[in-house]
Amino acid sequence: MENLPSFRELDAQYVMPAFTRDMMITRGSGSTVWDSEGKEYIDCVAGIAVCSTGHCHPAVVKAICDQAHELIHCSNLYYVPHQAELAKKLVELSGLEKAFFSNSGAEANDGALKLARVRTGRKKFVSFIHGFHGRTIGSLAVTHKPAIREPFEPLGLECSFVEYGDLESLKEVIDKETAAVLVEPVQGEAGVITPPAGFLEGVREICDDHGTLMIADEVQTGMGRTGKWFGYQHTRVMPDILTIAKGIASGFPMGALVAGNGLEFRKSEHGSTFAGGPLACATALATIDVIEEILPSIAAKAERFRKGLSRHHIRVAGLLIGMSTGDRCASIRDACAEKGVLVNCAADGNLRLMPPLVISNIEIDRVIEVVNEAMG
Ligand SMILES: Cc1ncc(COP(=O)(O)O)c(C=O)c1O
Repeated sequence: MENLPSFRELDAQYVMPAFTRDMMITRGSGSTVWDSEGKEYIDCVAGIAVCSTGHCHPAVVKAICDQAHELIHCSNLYYVPHQAELAKKLVELSGLEKAFFSNSGAEANDGALKLARVRTGRKKFVSFIHGFHGRTIGSLAVTHKPAIREPFEPLGLECSFVEYGDLESLKEVIDKETAAVLVEPVQGEAGVITPPAGFLEGVREICDDHGTLMIADEVQTGMGRTGKWFGYQHTRVMPDILTIAKGIASGFPMGALVAGNGLEFRKSEHGSTFAGGPLACATALATIDVIEEILPSIAAKAERFRKGLSRHHIRVAGLLIGMSTGDRCASIRDACAEKGVLVNCAADGNLRLMPPLVISNIEIDRVIEVVNEAMG
């Protein structure tokens, strides 16, 4: 019989090598995944905080299958089944006013930047050092990390970067030409960096003083990840624009921006072929139903992680957990995988755990045991 190439060989020959890859995950259920060799893992990566309801949650699978039998796509030229219902839900959950859908987090942020520009008539932005907002040209322009941004400059957007948590520096760069400040309530890609108390309130106040909009990038922190629907809900702050993606539809590609204070796109100012399609919206609605049930349990699960891992330098924002490891992150990650637990290395040697929100206490205890052993 012909010797067929392995998936590694096919990938090496035909896929652009932009990603560093390891195994192939072929199956998932709840917080468990299996690789192509049949090895089982507790998944504390969850598609990078995407598989909020766990893998293949029956209610989510049913919503996808039911909708796929009805209508997969129709275009935003028409009213789209489930789209307005989902927009209403996001408005209710966020306390904002109107939604616009996208297919990813970067696209949601691009939309937010466009909305801020077109409604303020201003051109400049401010965001934070070590922040991450995506890799499209627009979202990359407001993403600090020089290694991924600089090769693509000029990006056509003027953005100043200030130290996360430093309100004095923000005051120095913001002016009457600043359309918006983009901020993550917790910096996820940076390694789960939590800001000092009062930071978001300070950003809000400084924005208000300058007539500048505040955009909360909740692509990673939103949809229940931190124990509330959105990270800003742990404070008394209300952003002008909220961006969401990752956990919104359990892995079905979708993003959204939700805006308040009368901010909205007018006819033809923005658009997308696929965004807010019937399949994505039905999946997101099913996801929200599941998260609604488990949201009250997130704080206790986070506390269980915090206690169990307290001998390390740990930062806990609900089920978004970061630990400093110095230069040992990759070896700790690999040791965990060896013992059947998937964890991730974020920036600067920070080990990151972002399990499905449905993770059980038994699974949490096993993760704690494995991570403690690997950390030494
Ligand atoms: C805070 C934040 N914003 C935006 C993005 C980009 O989202 P996407 O990869 O869906 O474009 C990410 C992805 O990690 C993120 O963490």
